Amino acid sequence: MNYDIAVMPGDGTGPEVVAEGLKVLKAAAARAGFTYDLTHYDFGGERYMRTGETLPDSAIDELGGHDAILLGAIGHPQVKPGILELGILLKARFALDLYINLRPVKLLPGVETPIKDKGPAEIDFVVVRENTEGLYASTGGYLKKGTPDEIAVQESVNTRKGVERCIRYAFDYAGRADRRGQLTMVGKTNVLTYAWDLWWRAFNEIGDADYPEIKREYAHVDATCMWFVKNPEWFDVIVTDNMFGDIITDLGAMIQGGMGVAAGGNIHPGKIGMFEPIGGSAPKYTGQNVINPLAAIGAVQMMLDHLGQPEAAMWVEDGIIDAVSKMKSVSAGQMGMGTDAVGDVVAEFVGKG
Ligand code: IPM
Ligand code: MN
Repeated sequence: MNYDIAVMPGDGTGPEVVAEGLKVLKAAAARAGFTYDLTHYDFGGERYMRTGETLPDSAIDELGGHDAILLGAIGHPQVKPGILELGILLKARFALDLYINLRPVKLLPGVETPIKDKGPAEIDFVVVRENTEGLYASTGGYLKKGTPDEIAVQESVNTRKGVERCIRYAFDYAGRADRRGQLTMVGKTNVLTYAWDLWWRAFNEIGDADYPEIKREYAHVDATCMWFVKNPEWFDVIVTDNMFGDIITDLGAMIQGGMGVAAGGNIHPGKIGMFEPIGGSAPKYTGQNVINPLAAIGAVQMMLDHLGQPEAAMWVEDGIIDAVSKMKSVSAGQMGMGTDAVGDVVAEFVGKG
């Protein structure tokens, strides 16, 4: 098997952590017996400042031809907030129709959580965030802009098709051998009565018709925030819309040990996925060899799963656990070893078989 992988190291510490992810990929490939080609792309803040280009349409076509994309981080202190986020990250999600944002929240052994009395047995769930609609669809507009009577409308777009494909993915995920067969829809049916009525009907109709074996639960998004802290063990797989998914996965990242370990995937199932550490470019740590590469290595783990190498993905997770056992902390600057050394530990573990 040969895979065609695009690499977008991006800004700040992105390139450093991606380098460690690629080290681990190399070790996994050698052991599993697959090969891959890498194509590097320099989209990010530096290129934008040089050329004014974020992610041109021509690049979208090219990127879309790969089996997967490994992304470092997007965000540059000298570029106005929003330009790169919209022009690169959101553009890729929309243009490549990466309609699933998959964010595992799993506390690995040895990683500290701020939640008292909870451990790896209690914190192990997956958030399936719809990734192309909702408030992120960017529809709406102004009336009387710039006047005291200004009106700004920001609409949430929920299509039956878009909701349904996301919910189906989540049901399938809940049925995986490594999950516990429970799917919780997180919404706001008590207030947002159009959007969440559509979600509610789709959820129950699809569940009744095609997934009777999956246990269905529902929770409001505000209560979900409470339960992430109080009873995270209640969750197995969560499905939710774009905005709620954005918010609850930052909380999720914190309870699994922080941005140093949190990874996610933007996926068009069966086609392509873009995998990333979700912590951002952390520019102040650039070039110091102090940033934690485990989130990027976790992104490689997810990429391997997506590419159809679940066993290799498991080796990577075990390698991450091994690295954690040797690190002082998973926080940047407090790891007790360098970025590159962490990558070496994981790669060595993965490679040894
Ligand atoms: C995320 C980020 C993005 C989002 C930003 C950078 C546009 O917060 O991936 O969660 O809001 O989706
Ligand atoms: Mn976010």
